[in-house]
Amino acid sequence: MRDFPIGVFDSGVGGLTVVREIMRQIPNENIVYFGDTARVPYGSKSKDTIIKFSKQIVDFLLTKKVKAIVVACNTASALALEDLKREVDIPIIGVVMPGAIAAAEATRNEKVGVIATEATVNSNIYTHYLRDLNPNIQVYSKACPLFCPLVEENWLYDPITIEIADRYLSELIEYEVDTIVLGCTHYPLLRHTLRKVVGEKMNLVNPAYETAITLKNVLKEKQLDRLSKTNEHLFYVSDGAEKFKAFANTILPCEVMETNDVNIEQY
Ligand code: DGL
Repeated sequence: MRDFPIGVFDSGVGGLTVVREIMRQIPNENIVYFGDTARVPYGSKSKDTIIKFSKQIVDFLLTKKVKAIVVACNTASALALEDLKREVDIPIIGVVMPGAIAAAEATRNEKVGVIATEATVNSNIYTHYLRDLNPNIQVYSKACPLFCPLVEENWLYDPITIEIADRYLSELIEYEVDTIVLGCTHYPLLRHTLRKVVGEKMNLVNPAYETAITLKNVLKEKQLDRLSKTNEHLFYVSDGAEKFKAFANTILPCEVMETNDVNIEQY
């Protein structure tokens, strides 16, 4: 089983920020990625729908004989992870707890901002986790529903994106948070734009790093870490394979030669 790949999924391209970090931290591992580009965004959908979509994707990834799964989507991690854990008997890791741990470590004034999708914010999951880690932390959450479509459109540095970021983040700046969790895997792709708005001193926490380290530790502990060094990664989406491939090639450290469409509704 050691040689089997890691399944990683997101509603679209956002999970590639987690893939990038896995490739950096555990380069021996092979990845099977699924981006649900036909049904993105998840952040404005109901819990039942997010659970249904996530289960279909997990069933698809299991057909690829994955040895572990990373839910590289905060929304699916917040709303579906517990249900998914009950369904599969391989390790399954979300991005929310790793993000909360990184933010709790980064904050000095114990005021943490969380930017995420509406579904993640409404779930209050970051607040619960951060408070569990440090009851003194005050959490200010802000849903930023326009960020995900802007990223999917690759408008990462557009003046409109800066203006929208300014509107969303001004509240958090007023609360004097010293740390902002990028609580949606699409948002690290806006990092440069967000940095312009919040200034140099703000800690911008990308949960991807901590997630990759968590995965590394789990694989080691269960003796599932891959020893061989030749890589073969596979990429699948539910729509727009060519557009996805072009985008992935601007983000990942390896070349994505091929992306295939999957009819995810059949799972
Ligand atoms: N990238 C996802 C997340 O981390 C979801 C964005 C969306 O589909 O709304 O929450």
